[in-house]
Amino acid sequence: MSGHGTPEPMRSRRATPLIGDARVPGDKSISHRSLILGAMTIGETRVRGLLEGEDVLATAAAMRAFGAEVTRDEDGEWHIFGVGVGGFREPEDVIDCGNAGTGVRLIMGAMATTSITATFTGDASLRSRPMGRVTDPMALFGATAYGRTGGRLPMTIVGAASPVPVRYTLPMPSAQVKSAVLLAGLNAPGQTQVIEDEATRDHTERMLRGFGANVTTEDTPEGRIITLDGYPELAPQSIDVPRDPSSAAFPVCAALIVEGSDVLVPNIGLNPTRAGLFETLRDMGADLSYENPREEGGEPVADLRARFSPDMKGIDVPPERAASMIDEYPILSVVAANASGTTTMTGVKELRVKESDRIDAMAKGLRANGVTVSEGPDWWEVEGLGPNGVPGGATVAACLDHRIAMSFLCLGMASKSAVTIDDAAPVRTSFPIFETLMSDLGARLERANQ
Ligand code: S3P
Repeated sequence: MSGHGTPEPMRSRRATPLIGDARVPGDKSISHRSLILGAMTIGETRVRGLLEGEDVLATAAAMRAFGAEVTRDEDGEWHIFGVGVGGFREPEDVIDCGNAGTGVRLIMGAMATTSITATFTGDASLRSRPMGRVTDPMALFGATAYGRTGGRLPMTIVGAASPVPVRYTLPMPSAQVKSAVLLAGLNAPGQTQVIEDEATRDHTERMLRGFGANVTTEDTPEGRIITLDGYPELAPQSIDVPRDPSSAAFPVCAALIVEGSDVLVPNIGLNPTRAGLFETLRDMGADLSYENPREEGGEPVADLRARFSPDMKGIDVPPERAASMIDEYPILSVVAANASGTTTMTGVKELRVKESDRIDAMAKGLRANGVTVSEGPDWWEVEGLGPNGVPGGATVAACLDHRIAMSFLCLGMASKSAVTIDDAAPVRTSFPIFETLMSDLGARLERANQ
């Protein structure tokens, strides 16, 4: 798994125009949830278009360890024979979630109200990330967590023997924490409620409804209140996973900054809780259109068309949009470096606890490549150099973070001199076909140690 092996340096040189269709893989958030909810349902759930990246494969392995049967047929369809709500068996060994914060946090939630014990670990990135944000609400259900200092992995969770329902106000905008609470609430009596100040991605709520749970969402002066009735009868589903807007962000943004580009990214999930980047790019003046908008499997989708946009201007990104584009700030900063004027991003302190401290990782790498960046605890600012204005030429640390790695490879596609990353292995966690897909469009990526 990435993060455990030899680093794989990669270099990106100024690309020829990026032209063609970019069929990006399935949505990572929806893929994790399909496996976990399938495993909590009695009967066969079928999933097409599952993201077969390392993060999601780790979740598939975890679901097997908890007793579900999870297989892939030769047509690429996944079949999950679940064990039902409260039916998880105790895993025989440590659960290794690799690089996946979503995987580990959702699974902790899913098992915390079953009377079993499980121990979780992950790669160096995941072992440095805070888990207290999940174990705090799990304690309210009656579960106990034993982890390293600062609530870090490895960590053992002793599931509640007699869970009680919980009403929990999220202390930070986090769909992972919200989802962990809702998944735990499935095996608790009565109603479990989560209250959020800002709308975070709502795939768990949508999918729980699809599986037959009673979930309501109400916007109130107190915040958005999500209520789940415990002990639902979940019914197996047939799921088509839409393509991932967070992966689409890379070919879209690369096309906007590479001269002469015209890229179509078909069938992208455009759930409003995920589509903030595309709105921001349009506000900057990007030539980005939504073609053929439609609904698939309860999620809005469209084909995105992005063309080289030499007139993009820096903007103040509204902080209330942060939750809907939280994973896209690294690649947005690359676009900002190629726009004219300053782009300011505020209300983004969550970026500091992702797979890496993403403000720090991007600021260091952009500066090394000749871009001026200022930062504070929960904001950062990028001075644009205009189209084709980034000098490039540096080697940067990907920090075991797939989105940092892909962002700098995209930077190199539009820089005067090549940009090199120290390790491209983390890309396999979310976008295993990135190198081929981008090269087919016209990117010039090469293994740097060859
Ligand atoms: C995710 C939620 C977000 C996001 C992550 C996927 C999810 O994390 O950054 O990549 O699938 O619920 P937070 O909940 O920490 O904001």
